[in-house]
Amino acid sequence: MLRTILLGPPGAGKGTQAVKIVEKYGVPHISTGDIFRENIKNGTELGKKAQEYMNKGELVPDDLVCDLATSRLLQPDCADGFLLDGFPRTVYQAEKLDEFLKEHDSRIDVVLNLAVEKEELITRLTGRRVCKVCGASFHIVSVPPREEGVCDFCGGELVQRPDDNLETVTNRIDVYDSQTKPLVDYYEKAGNIATIDGAADLDTVFGDIVKAIGE
Ligand code: AP5
Ligand code: MG
Ligand code: ZN
Repeated sequence: MLRTILLGPPGAGKGTQAVKIVEKYGVPHISTGDIFRENIKNGTELGKKAQEYMNKGELVPDDLVCDLATSRLLQPDCADGFLLDGFPRTVYQAEKLDEFLKEHDSRIDVVLNLAVEKEELITRLTGRRVCKVCGASFHIVSVPPREEGVCDFCGGELVQRPDDNLETVTNRIDVYDSQTKPLVDYYEKAGNIATIDGAADLDTVFGDIVKAIGE
């Protein structure tokens, strides 16, 4: 059983490490950002609402996100654990999540806080390329695909996310500092947070995550 949250600024490597965590621990990966992007792709009402916030680098309103996340957590595949990526992102969302878990006799085992400096975040996000088909993340310099523009995992086309331009990236980092960073304190008070140096190379970061979770 592993119930965990990946916390960290945009570009800290949450999505990248999530792939490895899922592979080792077999828990479902729940990324609210990925769910919104899927809804945008499918042209749903939820997607239309979320898109205007995402393109500006603003947060989608709390209630919309909380309903989405809690209904996902009620699905049977989450009964033996889950990996939340990008949720919660405000103190309000964290409180709602705690209420929900309490109602279901559940709790968070460990919060994995990936820490990376702003300059490195900007380099990572502006150089990121994502697979149009499976969503895998690459980086033009630090994590290049074997063949330029082609996903290593599924052969899909690699594109830039619409919110990965410098202006939106800068705003996303500011939004993180003002609205999400307070969660570090929130979980420190709860006593179940592990802060990990996210600036190290992929395997070192993953090794530290495994140490924090336990084998
Ligand atoms: P979301 O999709 O969650 O984006 P984010 O938090 O901004 O984070 P990213 O996905 O950009 O970064 P990441 O940490 O996953 O990094 P990655 O592994 O790709 O959210 C998008 C939007 O949706 C939000 O702005 C908001 O509007 C909305 N939203 C979502 N959830 C919400 C919520 N709960 N409430 C309200 N709104 C919400 O890595 C980045 C790059 O670095 C890649 O190129 C990668 O290859 C590279 N890289 C990774 N690790 C390393 C390493 N160790 N060394 C070198 N390069 C590395
Ligand atoms: Mg991500
Ligand atoms: Zn792919």
